[in-house]
Amino acid sequence: MRDLVIRAPDDFHVHFRSGPGLEKFVRRTAALFDRALPMPNTLPPLADAATLRAYAASVRAAAPDLDLVLSFKLLPGMDTETVRSLAGAGARVGKYYPAGATTHSSDGIREPGEIREALAAMEDAGLVLSVHGEDPAAPVLERERAFLPVVRGLLDDYPRLRIVLEHLSTREAAEFVAAGPRRLGATVTAHHLSFTTDDLAGRALNPHLYCKPVLQDAAHRAALRKAAAACERVFFGSDSAPHPRDRKESGSIPPGIYAAPVALPLLAAAFEEEDALDRLEDFASARGASFYGLPPNRSRVRLVRETWTVPDEVDGAVPAAAGSALAWTAERV
Ligand code: NCD
Ligand code: ZN
Repeated sequence: MRDLVIRAPDDFHVHFRSGPGLEKFVRRTAALFDRALPMPNTLPPLADAATLRAYAASVRAAAPDLDLVLSFKLLPGMDTETVRSLAGAGARVGKYYPAGATTHSSDGIREPGEIREALAAMEDAGLVLSVHGEDPAAPVLERERAFLPVVRGLLDDYPRLRIVLEHLSTREAAEFVAAGPRRLGATVTAHHLSFTTDDLAGRALNPHLYCKPVLQDAAHRAALRKAAAACERVFFGSDSAPHPRDRKESGSIPPGIYAAPVALPLLAAAFEEEDALDRLEDFASARGASFYGLPPNRSRVRLVRETWTVPDEVDGAVPAAAGSALAWTAERV
């Protein structure tokens, strides 16, 4: 098979940032995706209705045809009224960042009791809880596994709350989701399906493959590929997270991979290696919309078997796989 035409994909986890880069990052995603869920760990965070409205307006100005699923950042002590006003401003998702787990999360949550009121309000309003599932107190490669009991507790304590565990990185997390209730979903990135700790640090350290949760070994990647191909509540979120080149090549490198420019080619290669190209559309363009209760996208994207070399810099950031040859390209039909 040469080309593969699929329904235009959704990106249910992407960082557009705020400030001067925003327009380029939004347009990069809108070039191939019909819908996106922009993450709220911007500076300042999306945590009140006015800030969320202004942010949504700037994203829409950059790409009027991109459908948005808006999210806000849960902050300790957030009250019912704030959650309701965020829902009134269009938010469908509240994001839980454990304090210190990742980029721009120092204002995050230390334990779920800090957001009891907000979670109850989200459950009542039918909002989805999106979770960065890592315990920053655990060793770096153990953090996702260490956080699973917290997710278990959230499922138990809020029996009607819909929860998405973001960017799965381990077999245990994939199994946890597969064994969970229908109201538990998960995203997987293209980089966690493509790369391992050895690509990050096995030869020379590649800061452009440094993200949270950190890439794991090939056995975990294999489990993620199986889940992405077969689990009906596992869907695509790129976690495309650009940082300026000078910060990614500094002495204190922030986590985050600029994945948007290579996400679909990486996905096609990973699914092809699994002999699962026929499941790619389901993963990238169907299951997430169905989990979020949204209609499927109408336009189409074509994946073409055509080797190209990923540029060193795109939109002022270094993309994943910069300088490497990829076997697929993607274009709108
Ligand atoms: C993300 C970022 O840079 O905002 N970084 C990352 O490594 N994934 C935040 C996040 O989703 O954890
Ligand atoms: Zn992210």
